[in-house]
This record gives sequence, C-alpha cells and structure tokens, in this order.
Amino acid sequence: MPTAAFAAPFKAVIALGLVALAPAGALPASAQSLSPQDVLAQPISFRAAGLGEDSAIVVPVAEGPLSGIAAQADAASGGAIARAISAAEFKAKPGDVLTLYSIGRFARVTLIGVGAGAITATDLEDFGARAAIASSTGAAGVAVVFAPDAPGLQNDPAIAARGAALGGYAFGEAFDRAKPKADRGLIFAAEDAAAAQAAFNADGRALIAGVALARDLISEPSNIKTPQWFADRVRTAFRGEPKVTIEVLDERQMQRLNMGLLLGVGQGSTRPPRLVLVRYNGAPATEAPIAFVGKGITFDSGGISIKPGDGMWRMRYDMSGAAASMGAVMSLARRGAPVNAIGVAALAENMPGGGAIRPGDVLKSYTGKTVEVLNTDAEGRLVLADALAYVQDKHKPSAVITIATLTGAVRTALGDDYAGLFANDESLAARVTAAGAATNEAVWRLPIHESTFTDIKSDVADVKNVVEGTGTAGASIGAAFIQEWVRPGQAWAHLDIAGVAWKTARTPTVPAGAAGYGVRLLDQLARDGAGAP
Ligand code: BES
Ligand code: MN
Ligand code: ZN
Repeated sequence: MPTAAFAAPFKAVIALGLVALAPAGALPASAQSLSPQDVLAQPISFRAAGLGEDSAIVVPVAEGPLSGIAAQADAASGGAIARAISAAEFKAKPGDVLTLYSIGRFARVTLIGVGAGAITATDLEDFGARAAIASSTGAAGVAVVFAPDAPGLQNDPAIAARGAALGGYAFGEAFDRAKPKADRGLIFAAEDAAAAQAAFNADGRALIAGVALARDLISEPSNIKTPQWFADRVRTAFRGEPKVTIEVLDERQMQRLNMGLLLGVGQGSTRPPRLVLVRYNGAPATEAPIAFVGKGITFDSGGISIKPGDGMWRMRYDMSGAAASMGAVMSLARRGAPVNAIGVAALAENMPGGGAIRPGDVLKSYTGKTVEVLNTDAEGRLVLADALAYVQDKHKPSAVITIATLTGAVRTALGDDYAGLFANDESLAARVTAAGAATNEAVWRLPIHESTFTDIKSDVADVKNVVEGTGTAGASIGAAFIQEWVRPGQAWAHLDIAGVAWKTARTPTVPAGAAGYGVRLLDQLARDGAGAP
C-alpha cells in the first residue's frame, strides 16, 4: 500500500504540458536558462476575458441557476450544458468536477463546482488546481480557464493559476523537460490579462519555484539523495540568482569547528554529512536576517537504534525541514523580497554502519555542550543543535525558526493537518500562527513544561537526547532539547512537521507524497516582517 502511494507521483509525469503557450505556442527566449522547477509555470498563460471561439474551456458553476460564464457557455452550446448538468445530477458543490466532450460547439467543457458561498483565495487556488488536474488526463488540448470572482481580491486569475501550478506538480516532470508536451496547457482568462500575468510572474512563480524545489528534494529516493547530492542540487537551483551566497561545509570543516553532533549522526553512513547555508540579501546589510534551520536527514534508518521495517521507506522525507528552508529562501529570492534571510540545511544520513554512534555514546557539540545519546533514532535534534548554534554565532539572526520532521509523537497528537509549534517568544509565535493560517499551512501551539529541561539532564553529560519510559511528551522533549542551543534573548520558534510533510491523500494544491509544507508559511512570515521585534 505505501509503495503504491510512492509509485503514483513518480510515474505521473503527464500532469501539465511543459511548453509556454503564449505567444503562439513558442517558448520564451529565457526558457533555456530556466532551472527545472520553472517548468511548472511554463504551460500557464493569460489572455483577455470573454468566451471567444475557444474549443476547450473550464468554467466555475455555482449552486443554483447557471450564471456568468457558465450561462454564456450554455447559451453558446444551445442549452446542451444545462441538459448535461441535469442528466449527470451535477450539484456544483465545491470540488465537484464534470468533464463533457463534444458538447455543442465545444470539444471539451470542464465544469467545476464552487458551491454557494463567497470565494476566498484558497477557493481560487483550489479551483485552479482542479482545472489543472482535470486537464491533465483525457483528451489533449489547451484549455481556457475562467476563474470565479472573489470579492475583495485582486488578480483572481493569477491566484487560480498559482493553484494550478501547485496542484499540477508531479515529481519526475523536472527530469522530463527535454521532451516538452506541447499538447496541454492552461490559459487563464482575465479582465486585465497583462496585470494578471505580471502578478503571476512577480509572485506566483516565485512561490511555485520554492514549493517545487522542496517537493523535488523530498521526493528523490535516498539512494540518489546523499547530503552531497542535496548540496549540489541546491547550488544548481540557485545558480545565477542575484543576492544569494551559498556556503557548504564538508566533514573536514565540521571537524575543525567541533560540530560533534552533526558529525556523530553522519558517521554510521559511508556518505558524509554536509551543512548548507543559503543567504539571501534583499535588504541592507545592517538588517539582521531571519534564519530557517531545517533537519536534513537524507534517510533515517534509526541508526543502531534501528527502526522497524514497515514504512521505513518513507524516511526519505526526513529532510523535509531542510527542503522547506531551501524552498522558502528560493521563493524570497525569486520575488526579490526586501528582507535578509538564511536557509540552513543540516544534512546527514542516519545509518547503522560499523562507524556508527552507539546508544550511550557522549558527543560534544559546536558550543561545547555535551550530549549523552541514549537513542540513535533521536538524531534530528542532534543535527539541528549544531546547525542552530552555528547560524546564531555567524549570522546573528533577528529570529530563528527550526523546522523538522522531528517526532512521531507530534503526528499522534495533531495528525497530518497541523504542524506542532513551539516558541520562546509570544510575538513570534503569533506571527508564525498567522502566517500558517494565511497560507493554509496550519500550526497548533504546544507547550514545553519547565520540568522537561530537568528531565533531559544527564548524569554523564549536559543533556541526554531522549527521556526513557512511555507516556512522555515526545514532541515537547524534542523541542526542549533544541531550545538548549538557543542563545539567551534569541527569538526562536520550532515547527515539528513530522505529521504534515508527507501526505497519503492529495488535496487540490498538495499532491500525495511530498507536501513541501512550510515553504509558503516561511515565505509569508518573511513577508510579514518576522525579523522585526
Ligand atoms: N524522523 C523521526 C521522526 C518521525 C517518526 C517522523 C515517524 C515521521 C514519522 C525521528 O528521527 C525519530 O525517529 N524520532 C523518534 C524519537 C524517539 C526515539 C525519542 C520517534 O519519534 O520515535
Ligand atoms: Mn530518527
Ligand atoms: Zn529522523
């Protein structure tokens, strides 16, 4: 069953065409220099509103009598659409989709229900995503999409187009772009097509690039995805990006810096750890950056405290925090956001090789603080501690967000719709919560009781990496451990994304598999000036 969930996105390379549709189906001159994740935005273009002579259309249908563009299309089809709606008992509930072929003068009409209430930005994104999904199968062709009107929002078609690109994502497409599928694509009708195109280019494409980068990184099987592969892939993705500098520390540099935790986790693997820092300078150098520090375990076998076999394959996604950090910085850089930001990826493979750390080993971190490793499967907190210490030391961030698939316990507590949020700063916690709500990447705050800091004290080292015994607050213990490396006065929030980073079932804008969770939230946080006190 889990294998099928993986196979689907891997094989579904059809999704959307890869070729720009405007003007006249020609690739823009810049297309050759685009990095892989840009292919997603390529089949999307805009044109003036109005029904025209189009042969394939996607139209919103509200509950009740046909209105707007649906009514116009029905008239143009001599009432055939209304008859089909009635025959199919199409109710126009949100998410209902009905595709009709050879109806009246149209080759294809896709009806998408939008219910009865007012349309929100999320509804628009979902509408666009459903249009992309419906148009990715069945007869080929370019479809004109008429997004519904959302009161109070601007550039509704650009928002719908963003949803289409997010929902139309399929892993594997990035590898397939040498063979563009010229036979599919979406053209969004807009009152002001130039404004919609400009909004999509300036904003939507940046977001899509970040989310697609994260999903690409997460989806990659771990035989390919080594820490070095991740670092190379990030360098390639950011190549030519102005205002971005990348630092990659290898194991020799880490040894010199005494990063005993990151090195310790990596030493059971033949593929050595890396620390990647991507700095984007969109604001004056005097402005302190916001830092995103992501867990980047390219495969988590558990190490010597080895995991059970069932579902272990999914532990390729144990670098989803690092992927979100990279993706968020990509989005900020692509849209030229007026902020300074640093994405950090703490990369190691947790394997039980002959050189692996053992339960009971004591490691010394970058700061000199020592750790008793009682369970080698609690490795994420170890790599994050060194990375967190290093970024505070070198970059003096205004705020730090750690983001990690840290504990199974958070999934038990919150399921796969809420990430767990921990914070030492009320204002930052409020801003992270607001950013999550605004981007449909929800968070739920969890506490760290003072006693937890006593619980993680060790007899032989400063702290231990787990508290033994059942019934403990696993997600809070993980967060408390990380907080041990947060400097006094440093605003810090921690997102435990173990429940939300991998989806077994799709939603319109998030395909099954790698969700890319966190890119949008972190991008929004930087938008809202999270660095400010
Ligand atoms: N990567 C896992 C967390 C995880 C578990 C993510 C299940 C997604 C699904 C993490 O490294 C881990 O193994 N955590 C342990 C911690 C325990 C040993 C204290 C866990 O959650 O069981
Ligand atoms: Mn683990
Ligand atoms: Zn892990």
